[in-house]
Amino acid sequence: MIPVITIDGPSGSGKGTISRLVAEQLGWNMLDSGAIYRVLGLAAERAGISAQQISGLTALASNLDLSFQAEKVLLANEDVSHLIRTEAAGNAASKVAVIPQVRTALLGWQRAYAKDPGLVADGRDMGTVVFPDAKIKVFLTASAEVRALRRYKQLKEKGLNANLVSLVAEIQERDERDQNRSVAPLKAPVAALEIESTSLSIDEVLKSVLDRVEKTYPELDISMPR
Ligand code: C5P
Repeated sequence: MIPVITIDGPSGSGKGTISRLVAEQLGWNMLDSGAIYRVLGLAAERAGISAQQISGLTALASNLDLSFQAEKVLLANEDVSHLIRTEAAGNAASKVAVIPQVRTALLGWQRAYAKDPGLVADGRDMGTVVFPDAKIKVFLTASAEVRALRRYKQLKEKGLNANLVSLVAEIQERDERDQNRSVAPLKAPVAALEIESTSLSIDEVLKSVLDRVEKTYPELDISMPR
């Protein structure tokens, strides 16, 4: 079986950064499942399909022409990497993500990313639904204020507009929707390594994940970051 590490958590918890670093360290593949929901939200908006039109959205999800190319996210060969990173795109994503049929349509597609030598999967339901047999499941959290501040810095670095007060409100609104939906709600998987990262550095979080990897897969040669 292909080894899988799942890293779930709320928006801005640092899962994207940690997943990328763990994948790089191990030389494994990476799945950014949030990007799929973000691209779907964008494709729906462009096609004029609202979050209430379930069959239209499900058809769109089943035929989504999405691909990842290095750091880029492509929708029908158009680079939409920047377009999908705004808070508005995150919110649109979380509205299409509540629909059970949409989530089912995306399951096989996500599982196909589990390829040799291994996969690091980042999202909300990677450990609970998409890869329930993963040997390592991480659940990363941090306070809404710290997550909003991290998002604020990320957006500013990308030259995008950001307002801290509205970011906190948007993050709380998205948490609420992600945690309370009926299918695949955001929650810690059973036996997850839970990391509360409010006062931890990226290196500290990375180290505890790699510690777990070393214990679970002693045959892997991991050079720990200092
Ligand atoms: O992780 P990211 O912020 O990019 O995710 C955007 C939205 O996509 C989330 O707020 C969530 O509603 C949805 N999502 C999901 N399941 C995943 C990944 C993301 O429902 N596995």
